Amino acid sequence: MMVEKKKPDEITPQELYQSRRTFLKTSLTITSAAALLAACKPTAVETIPTAAAIPSELVDELGSSATLEEDITGFTNYYEFSSNKLKPTELAQDFITSPWTVQIGGLVENPQEILVEELIARYSTVERVYRMRCVEGWSMVIPWQGFLLKDLVEDVKPTKDAVYVRFEGTFDPEQMPGQQYSTYPWPYVEGLRLDEAMHDLTLLATGIYGKDLTPQNGAPIRLVVPWKYGFKSIKAIRKIDFVEEMPTSLWMALSSREYGFYANVNPNVPHPRWSQASEQRIGESGRRDTLMFNGYEQEVQDLYTGMDLTVNF
Ligand code: MTE
Repeated sequence: MMVEKKKPDEITPQELYQSRRTFLKTSLTITSAAALLAACKPTAVETIPTAAAIPSELVDELGSSATLEEDITGFTNYYEFSSNKLKPTELAQDFITSPWTVQIGGLVENPQEILVEELIARYSTVERVYRMRCVEGWSMVIPWQGFLLKDLVEDVKPTKDAVYVRFEGTFDPEQMPGQQYSTYPWPYVEGLRLDEAMHDLTLLATGIYGKDLTPQNGAPIRLVVPWKYGFKSIKAIRKIDFVEEMPTSLWMALSSREYGFYANVNPNVPHPRWSQASEQRIGESGRRDTLMFNGYEQEVQDLYTGMDLTVNF
């Protein structure tokens, strides 16, 4: 299938992202507020924002404030630990995330095995405030730090036969109780088409809310693809392979009728068991309309020119 490609800097308006400066300023506000609170000076405390007010400075390009940090880190989907969204926070707190190597190979000229710390040092850090829409019908707005997957792809130089990127998570039942008792086909696997992986919105995240990524949110390194349902954004990545055939993700292996490879957020294509037309934003009351490609339509629609998105869901 033909896909019209454009250079990412042509398709990503600058104002799409929270600027680094604003983010740093906000992080400093958070730090100094915490420091002041720790110093316990009542006069100073009166002048600083409450915890709930701080995230309003972190907004996405549509004007939505970041979800509260405690909600982002306290309500997670991480089946290697538990299918209960409240449990990974505690169950993952001692998960060993350093040292951590990622193996990159398959159809590339420069395969490598590299420490996450080296990746962070090698590539420019970006800070992005992205919406995340879970296939289950809830959503959040999350401030991430990380680097562009594109930068890494360019370094490893995929060969002309590489069409897809396959990501593999961790298999470590001793540390991950969910892998002991669930019959899922571990490790967690996800995939992107190479042009999706090269898109300027696609991140490998290593931080959240101005801090290191928490274990329950996917430390030390996870994928973030904001126009796709959250399950594509695989946590705790161990392996990245460039391949010719479309990878079978864990969710496709479990139920390909319900969870397709593309998994683009689409209010017009219902999940077989529920509508995807609206969503519950965590921290809000009521539901809001779900946006095509999660609101990133202008940036990504060209990737899917000529595709029937009801078939390639
Ligand atoms: N990655 C791994 N390895 N294991 C998981 O269970 N859950 C996915 C995705 N990545 C998952 C994963 C799902 S269903 C969602 S919605 C997002 O992570 C949730 O990310 P969050 O918990 O940081 O909000």
